[in-house]
Amino acid sequence: MKNIVLIGFMGTGKTSTGRLLASRLGRPFIDVDRKLEQECKMTVAEFFAAHGEILFKQKEKSLIAKIARYHNSVISTGGGSVEDQANFHKLRENGVIITLTASIDIILERTGRRRGVRPLLDCDNPAEVVKELLAKRGHLYQNTDYMIDTSTYSPHQVAEKIITFLRTGGYLRGRS
Ligand code: S3P
Repeated sequence: MKNIVLIGFMGTGKTSTGRLLASRLGRPFIDVDRKLEQECKMTVAEFFAAHGEILFKQKEKSLIAKIARYHNSVISTGGGSVEDQANFHKLRENGVIITLTASIDIILERTGRRRGVRPLLDCDNPAEVVKELLAKRGHLYQNTDYMIDTSTYSPHQVAEKIITFLRTGGYLRGRS
């Protein structure tokens, strides 16, 4: 069965929704950032500090190439992963792609709750960076199988809406 792949900007709820979705569907949950942290034995923030963003993206790309070949899993990706179109195409070959979005205010509120974990926003003016990155990346999160604005929903509600979409679209083949 196809993977269910969550993409979207930082703070849109990919990890919390993905975990809930996987548990509701009884499927394995893979978070690309956590996988990278396990393999490299350091946090994403530590990786950025030690090796920089370019090497982070290389490592992310090789992990995605591997993870995209899994089956039947729920996969949540890092917000910047789709900047490399090859990542998007690999994930799509074997997956239903779902975009999570949120308003700028909500993104700032959610990402501001846990400081120091997102190196790109660890700066004097995260609001400016979020706006710039959204302007640069916005189009990359389009044209997926399903898109949901999570601004006013809890991860539970988002997971339920995704399940309804998957059922209606025949992606679950009667399961869950
Ligand atoms: C990034 C998003 C992060 C993480 C890294 C880079 C980005 O993941 O991969 O800090 O470039 O948007 P989340 O989207 O899970 O926060």
